Amino acid sequence: MKVLVVGASGQFGGILLSKLRESGFGVVACSSSVLDITSLDSVMSFSEKCPELIINAAAYTAVDAAESEPQQAYCVNETGVSNLIQLASLLECPLINISTDYVFDGSLGRPYVETDITTPLGVYGASKRAGELLLEESKGRFLNIRTSWLFSETDHNFMSAMLRLAAKKSEFGVVFDQVGCPTFAGDLADAIVKICNAYIRGRQMEWGTFHYSGDEEVSWYGFAHEIFEKAVQMSVLESRPKLQKLSTDQYPTVARRPQYSVLNCSKIQDVYGVRLSNWKNAITEILSAKPKFNGNR
Ligand SMILES: NC(=O)c1ccc[n+]([C@@H]2O[C@H](COP(=O)([O-])OP(=O)(O)OC[C@H]3O[C@@H](n4cnc5c(N)ncnc54)[C@H](OP(=O)(O)O)[C@@H]3O)[C@@H](O)[C@H]2O)c1
Repeated sequence: MKVLVVGASGQFGGILLSKLRESGFGVVACSSSVLDITSLDSVMSFSEKCPELIINAAAYTAVDAAESEPQQAYCVNETGVSNLIQLASLLECPLINISTDYVFDGSLGRPYVETDITTPLGVYGASKRAGELLLEESKGRFLNIRTSWLFSETDHNFMSAMLRLAAKKSEFGVVFDQVGCPTFAGDLADAIVKICNAYIRGRQMEWGTFHYSGDEEVSWYGFAHEIFEKAVQMSVLESRPKLQKLSTDQYPTVARRPQYSVLNCSKIQDVYGVRLSNWKNAITEILSAKPKFNGNR
């Protein structure tokens, strides 16, 4: 089966690409320089490649910058999804879209289920929700998979940022009153490959929105603490930096973030039998590939 992966140069797209290839899928993979999802012409030109499944890993993901450039955010996260829906419709193939916990405002006080009301706090979340609404209205065969706090071995995520900071500073603060579930991008990719395999084997599919994230909730502070504990145990860092607990008020950001955006992932486990992301194991896996401390901190 031939799969078109859009946004293949991103944190998640790159990992998904490798996992699909390892599993024997034929993959057409594109970065934004080859396939710009904001251009209908660019998207439609890919009909010639005849993909049988489209996965959208592309997005405008700059949460704070989105507040001052909403047009760019909506252009990618809404118009881009609209264009991919049109391609999927032409090819009569399913579309898998990745979305976010930031479609919720984080005030519910319990893990969010797929049918809970969405009330994004910022432009990024609102633009992602706008894309989701187009999928829902399309009545096509789509999977909209909301995930949270993605991290990986790549450079642009919370874990890499924490390790870079710890290499420079021995003491700093991390926010303790925002709670979510970290998700290892490799685990999300495995889950999607499993779903793709179910599809090609002709299994009865359930379309719609699903949640997929890590298996344990934690604050950003707790996540950082876990990273540093493991990094010291595994000699990636010489010593653990002294962490201070910061409240959201003490660490203001341009865009507001949800305080409790834990996703209830029972539906995707029940329907597709996927395992949730064991983010603590993933920290160990990522650290094991890092160079060990050599005394030059
Ligand atoms: N990162 C998180 O913590 C997080 C949390 C929850 C949900 N998500 C969702 O997970 C998905 C993957 O996120 P990620 O962390 O992998 O994001 P990322 O690293 O920022 O990658 C986004 C990708 O989208 C591409 N892109 C941007 N504009 C495009 C356009 N006009 N046409 C085609 N491609 C375009 C980028 O390509 P260029 O680099 O070439 O522009 C990049 O490859 C997104 O849907 C995001 O909303 C992420």
